Amino acid sequence: MRIAHISDLHLNSRLKPENIHKTRKLIEYALDNGAEHLVITGDISDNSDEKDFNVFKEILKQYDLLRSDKATIIIGNHDIFGGPQTAQDVLNFPSKCMNINYHAKVAGFVKYFKELFENTTRPHEELFFPFLKEFKNILIVGINSIAEYSRFKNPFASNGHVSKIQRQYLDTVLNRNEFKDKVKIILAHHHFYPKNITSHSSEDTLWSKIENYTMKLRGKKKLMKIFKNNNVKLVLHGHSHEMKEYIREDIRFINAGASLDNNSDHLASLFLIDVFPKLITTELCSVLLNKPDNPIEEKLIQSVAI
Ligand SMILES: [Fe+2]
Repeated sequence: MRIAHISDLHLNSRLKPENIHKTRKLIEYALDNGAEHLVITGDISDNSDEKDFNVFKEILKQYDLLRSDKATIIIGNHDIFGGPQTAQDVLNFPSKCMNINYHAKVAGFVKYFKELFENTTRPHEELFFPFLKEFKNILIVGINSIAEYSRFKNPFASNGHVSKIQRQYLDTVLNRNEFKDKVKIILAHHHFYPKNITSHSSEDTLWSKIENYTMKLRGKKKLMKIFKNNNVKLVLHGHSHEMKEYIREDIRFINAGASLDNNSDHLASLFLIDVFPKLITTELCSVLLNKPDNPIEEKLIQSVAI
């Protein structure tokens, strides 16, 4: 199956209208190049605004992708807490976050995009993550890596944490016999970088500099152990704004966090991932938006046998 992976759309029709255009162009490129399934690993909206969720829903509808078998999304920190939109907002952001009902936001997100969560398996009707989506040779597992707000542990609402209940569910469900022969792909918002790699937030602002230091996923080791014990082959994520592929403990990680956010109004990127039972091939494709006759600026192809 050919999967197109994009992330961190940060749709904001008021302040970032170019992101809507870029998203459309990436989807068109993916479909023109044979993508059978679209994955978006969080931060669909910039400010958790229902208007922007609606823009995205309309885009999906336009390309007949508002279907569980055609597209999978997970939630990002901006889909729950949003982000400061002005300098003044930076000061008010912590108190805004404290007043956000985290669980209601997660439930609202899943209900808003309910068509994409049809035919999935999850721990309980009131627990939306992790969810499992089965395809012929593939199992896609979406997790919620967004930590709840805490003045001390998560002061900028950018850190990650996967709850114990999610980890326990993952550990029991992933080793079911029925999934034995499927290629297991995890979707998370946060990265799994080793300590020596730094993450990148959006825009070169004071806020982004603060955010860069607070993008960590707590409890990474426990998750890695679960992935390893259950033969997970691939993890797709975003959050850190760069296009990067890396391997940790024989698990392949793909970060599509800079699909749109790349300091250019005319460039957008995605990963095309071909998943076969014994092989995963990835292509990093960049699309130049103002040159329709020559859309591919860069195409990097890597194959790794699994
Ligand atoms: Fe994020």
